[in-house]
Amino acid sequence: MREVTPSTPRALRGLVAAAALISSAPALALPWNIDMVDADTVKAYEKAMAPLPEGVVSQANLLTPISWRQNWAFTDRLQAEPMNPLNPDDEAVLQLGERMYGIYCAPCHGDGVTLGPVSAKGYPAVAVLAGDDGRLSTMGDAWVYLTIRNGSVSKLMPAYNYAMADDEMWAIVNWMRAEMPNAEAPMPVADTAADGETP
Ligand code: HEC
Repeated sequence: MREVTPSTPRALRGLVAAAALISSAPALALPWNIDMVDADTVKAYEKAMAPLPEGVVSQANLLTPISWRQNWAFTDRLQAEPMNPLNPDDEAVLQLGERMYGIYCAPCHGDGVTLGPVSAKGYPAVAVLAGDDGRLSTMGDAWVYLTIRNGSVSKLMPAYNYAMADDEMWAIVNWMRAEMPNAEAPMPVADTAADGETP
């Protein structure tokens, strides 16, 4: 048998150079594939569903596409529904909110006044949430919650529906209100509409 020559053929050397060039270009990220549709699983209707283990209860907001549905529509920024179910003074809630904010919001929104590193890298039009020009003081709790759950109206900010439980989203709302400067909710519409002015 003839020995294979160890020297790289010309064409191959060209290919290697091209590959090196491409890999040094900025990476173009693909979106996360989170639906597991291609995973090695039992597909729908492939076999009869196994009975649920004893004691299992159903839970809202499971990580299924169903829970991605928007459950409430945005109406106006001061809307009262849905109501904040958590006690704004509960220390455990505030701690949860701080943790969740740090994971999910700070990359873009920073500390609320100064935007975060993802914004600095060029994510467009991230809103300043608190401080003198902060948006939190212009919107009710429901609007803030819906922004987290369903994404912003413009869809520039993504929806967190599948990523967090409802209580975790409300905890973020409470924590931002409590800890960020000038982040309190504005007066409800009924109290300010009389003279057409916002105090
Ligand atoms: C990927 C970047 C990004 C992340 C992460 C992010 N946001 Fe946003 N957020 C935006 C952008 C961009 C806007 C401006 C959207 C607009 O003006 O339509 C925005 C706007 C907002 C607004 C104002 C909405 C309005 O109607 O004016 C609130 C409140 C808000 N974000 C809260 C949060 C909270 C709380 C989190 C964490 C759960 C979060 N954001 C995570 C990018 C982000």
